[in-house]
Amino acid sequence: MVDINFLGVGIGATLTLLAVSLHYARGTGWTPTADISQEVLEKRASTVPETEFPEPMNRSIGGGAIPAGSVTGGGGELEETDTEVDESEQVPGDIPDEEAEYFEVEFEKQGSTIEVASNQTVLTAGEDESWDLPYACRQGQCVSCAGQITSGGNAEDYVEHDNQQMLDDAELEHGYTLTCVAYPKDDFTIETGEAP
Ligand code: FES
Repeated sequence: MVDINFLGVGIGATLTLLAVSLHYARGTGWTPTADISQEVLEKRASTVPETEFPEPMNRSIGGGAIPAGSVTGGGGELEETDTEVDESEQVPGDIPDEEAEYFEVEFEKQGSTIEVASNQTVLTAGEDESWDLPYACRQGQCVSCAGQITSGGNAEDYVEHDNQQMLDDAELEHGYTLTCVAYPKDDFTIETGEAP
């Protein structure tokens, strides 16, 4: 014989009904948000009157796709963007032709003096003359293209090396240079095919 506790069943049923009611009641009472867009627009317009501030999408004054963070807050002024090239990082080969200087370089073995631009390597300048000059890596990482500047003093008084990794200070002091990465910065005489 099953003993039914009617009081327990009643309480259980009541609690279940209460939980179900609460579940469906959640979210009721929602009312649509009032359309405040016009109000916001008017308020916004009053805070930035008569300005050339490049509003997003205002293409008539060059606005629209401006990068985030490039505009100062409140003042309506554009922040200067640092687009200038750091000159200390500029390599001679990047010097534009119209800004290049020219130097007289005497190639002793070839018996000829030519003008070499400050944005051209000694090696390529010689090759432009159709001289068969030695080279291998063309990146300053061997000594195949080495030559000796015989004008006296350190090679780097006459050329700027763009990342030469082979010559030590003593060799540079004796005028040795890697012609594949050597850009002239003064007139000089060089013997090509001379390695330390
Ligand atoms: S060719 Fe290798 S250092 Fe110039």
